[in-house]
Amino acid sequence: MSQSCYAMMVTRLGPPDVMQYQVMEMPEPKDHEALIEQTAVGVNFVDIYLRVGQAHAHNPEPPFITGVHAVGIVKNVGSKVSEVQIGDRVTYTNAGVGTYCSHVAVASDRLVVVPNNVSDERCAAGFVRVMTAQYLLKQMRPLHTGDKVLIHAAAGGTGQVLVQWAKRMGLEVFVTAGSEEKIRFVKELGADHVINYRTSDFAQEVGKITHGKGVKVVFESVGKDTFMGSLECLEPKGLAINFGTASGQVENFALQSLHAKSLWICRPTLRTYIADKHDLQTMAKEAFEILGDPSFRLDIEAVLPLKEAAKAHTMIESRLTKGAVVLVP
Ligand SMILES: NC(=O)c1ccc[n+]([C@@H]2O[C@H](COP(=O)([O-])OP(=O)(O)OC[C@H]3O[C@@H](n4cnc5c(N)ncnc54)[C@H](OP(=O)(O)O)[C@@H]3O)[C@@H](O)[C@H]2O)c1
Repeated sequence: MSQSCYAMMVTRLGPPDVMQYQVMEMPEPKDHEALIEQTAVGVNFVDIYLRVGQAHAHNPEPPFITGVHAVGIVKNVGSKVSEVQIGDRVTYTNAGVGTYCSHVAVASDRLVVVPNNVSDERCAAGFVRVMTAQYLLKQMRPLHTGDKVLIHAAAGGTGQVLVQWAKRMGLEVFVTAGSEEKIRFVKELGADHVINYRTSDFAQEVGKITHGKGVKVVFESVGKDTFMGSLECLEPKGLAINFGTASGQVENFALQSLHAKSLWICRPTLRTYIADKHDLQTMAKEAFEILGDPSFRLDIEAVLPLKEAAKAHTMIESRLTKGAVVLVP
């Protein structure tokens, strides 16, 4: 009998408990694939979009395995694999496979070797977020010391990375967060202006602090609830980057609302920025400089067994987490 492994399978689109434990046959790597024994799985908000069916063109039909990121050890390789060897500790994201499982076969050109100074948990908590912050801060609009930027959901997994990296670049950082505890957390991270967007009108607050001038870029990951307010926060020719939709998608948007201040908007995804394997490796190198720096905070709210994936999703959807959540198969 062949060896078995397991996955948390999305049995239908819906609430967290649609993810069910399921035993599966061990995958056999094809010519250009490596078999990974997973040691830590990163939980990212996109895992929730997939589970509920909000990931647009990329949403598979159930049953499928959610998740886009994991860390593990190469256990076997196909006959044409040159990038990695058995025993390598690797990570991958957006590789076209679900990650909430114990073992998976992944295209070897999607794998990145993890340096020794980055633990499995830290890589699972931070790799996708640091890669995302890299393209958002460095590849979208030139940003210089003193430039003002606004970061929403700043206490979240991606938010905590963006705030610290933006401060390292010398930017003046305005942030929003959804509770007093989260406000304390983002102050500790070094944010300059901190707004609880559940108790006050963030656009008005940004207007007051900047004397009506606004900020250069808004990093907008909340979507429906904040997008129009984010446009109000921009200076003329400013840029709103809608890179997430935690509160729902931005719908019925009138292009004309950009006209008065000549604003820019875009809706990017990490997937595009790492589609080329050389770009993937170049960005990963920079990401590991951040991840390997112990002074860069990557708070992990919870490390849970993979079988408790539903609990992890419930915590994130209830807006209870600061920093990241990691699952261990
Ligand atoms: N496009 C890309 O390349 C890319 C890559 C990675 C991540 N992302 C996006 O970045 C965002 C953050 O991802 P993450 O994995 O690090 O998650 P996260 O920030 O840890 O969690 C999402 C946060 O969004 C805030 N939020 C606001 N309204 C919400 C609502 N109605 N329901 C739930 N949360 C709400 C919550 O913070 P408060 O309580 O403080 O409001 C929550 O903590 C997500 O939108 C994700 O899709 C995009």
